[in-house]
Amino acid sequence: MSSWILETEKLTKTLGGKAVVNDVKLQIGKGDIYGFLGPNGAGKTTTIRMLLGLAKPTHGSIRIFGKELRKERLAILRKVGSLVEYPSYYGHLSAEENLETVRRLLDVPRTRIGEVLDMVRLTSESKRPVKGFSLGMKQRLGIATALLGQPELLILDEPTNGLDPAGILEIRELIKRMPEELGVTVVVSSHLLSEMEQMATRVGIIAKGRMIFQDSIQSLQAKAPAKIRLGVSEPESAWRMLLSAGYQADWDRSRLTVNGANDHIAAAIVSSLVRHDFEVYRVEREGASLEHIFLDMTGGEGSL
Ligand SMILES: Nc1ncnc2c1ncn2[C@@H]1O[C@H](COP(=O)(O)OP(=O)(O)OP(=O)(O)O)[C@@H](O)[C@H]1O
Ligand SMILES: [Mg+2]
Repeated sequence: MSSWILETEKLTKTLGGKAVVNDVKLQIGKGDIYGFLGPNGAGKTTTIRMLLGLAKPTHGSIRIFGKELRKERLAILRKVGSLVEYPSYYGHLSAEENLETVRRLLDVPRTRIGEVLDMVRLTSESKRPVKGFSLGMKQRLGIATALLGQPELLILDEPTNGLDPAGILEIRELIKRMPEELGVTVVVSSHLLSEMEQMATRVGIIAKGRMIFQDSIQSLQAKAPAKIRLGVSEPESAWRMLLSAGYQADWDRSRLTVNGANDHIAAAIVSSLVRHDFEVYRVEREGASLEHIFLDMTGGEGSL
């Protein structure tokens, strides 16, 4: 028995004679927020549709909660909530009424509606017709719907697509709370690594149908060249001091940078500068390096 809550083996989907998902091995642990990343057309939605039993794999297998999806589809999917692409609603009905239509199908207690509305912070808007909702509110209602059946696994396909920064932040904060507060494992797809960095515990990167990286977010971050840029008083003498202290510092008359500075080393550098009476105005990680890694891995097709 494996310890993964969701696991695929050689998962493949051929569409129009092309393998749009090719030999994919997903491994998702209980309590993970799994960031499923890839540029447009990489195969994320196709994979997710197979995980939800909405599309049939051409080859390969899917195990969820330790059971074969092919054999125990209904028992498995009862404990999976999902939001794939743009959810559809009855626009003239309120959020509460829309949830009620789904609640009846799932046969969960009526009190559950208040709970999920509260979870996605829509309680105060729950009586308004959904047609007046912003895109962010609609996405939150979609997540509320996905949570109605108290799922153990929640699968969200690009839930922040098309949202403004405030909407993105709201969804991110909501997702981050889920494993702890609801005991749910979350799979969330995105083409933005920067977004995943702020919530995922584990990431899988897919490009042209193939999985090219899968591990903890920390091990992805460890691949990023750790370079920091410093804003300090008297940068030239700060540079000499850092060099003599053994750091890989560079000074080109406008920028003071240090290579090989992970968080721990960056903290030591700052405290050393302060001890030597330099004023530190700014410490920045150089050039969103994780995005660069992502672009490298995906052959330059990633979105930023
Ligand atoms: N019915 C189909 N017939 C042929 N090719 C298809 C079909 N549906 C999808 N594809 C192709 O499969 C590939 C993967 O599509 P998919 O929607 O899974 O990508 P995605 O990673 O979700 O992309 P996006 O970020 O744009 O949502 C794309 O190249 C797409 O053109
Ligand atoms: Mg998609």
